[in-house]
Amino acid sequence: HSIHVVSHPLVQHKLTKMRDKLTSSANFRRLLREMGLLLGYDATRDLPLVHTHIETPIESMDAPLLDGKKLVIVPILRAGLGLAEGLMDLMPLARMGHVGLYRDPRTLQAVEYYFRTPGDISDRDVIVCDPMLATAHSAIAAVDRLKETGAKRLKFICVLASEQGARAFAEVHPDVPVFTAAVDAKLNDHGYIVPGLGDAGDRLFG
Ligand code: PRP
Repeated sequence: HSIHVVSHPLVQHKLTKMRDKLTSSANFRRLLREMGLLLGYDATRDLPLVHTHIETPIESMDAPLLDGKKLVIVPILRAGLGLAEGLMDLMPLARMGHVGLYRDPRTLQAVEYYFRTPGDISDRDVIVCDPMLATAHSAIAAVDRLKETGAKRLKFICVLASEQGARAFAEVHPDVPVFTAAVDAKLNDHGYIVPGLGDAGDRLFG
């Protein structure tokens, strides 16, 4: 399936710092934002360019600029907000949507409590972000809703995925590539990724 593990040394170093339980909430937040930037850089490699005529202070030339409409960044609340900050640093003109989902602690199903996107999502690239892809219920539900709303070109960015989650997501949404810093082998009975990095939302917001 189309899962891209970003092996860049900076990404791997930052992930280890995020996994470390001794990392403070302030540093965790900063690292997550930096991850958004670095993973976003990799996930946007294929954005189309168009040549435009400009004048440098020296001479005129044809130079590339991004083509098409501004893309849409969609964090899954809450923890996705931390990653979205880095993506917004990278693409300050991007539009933003928000999907609020929490996991029912007993069933681990994703429960929606908020959904709002820019109206014209159907002809824009959409990047959905959430630090964790555990069971993948949240990511699948978010992408389901965005597709219902008209989104056609989607990508999913996370910091950490479980093998099970990556497989489940690819089965339901094979057209949506996943970019992550690592894939961990296990998921425990509470739906936490093992060894993982704990509860990203709690580490981010306390
Ligand atoms: C966590 C995490 C993801 C989801 C991943 O959110 O931030 O959104 O669980 O798990 P899944 O792949 O099994 O669905 P949580 O429900 O704890 O909400 P929060 O971000 O508001 O803390």
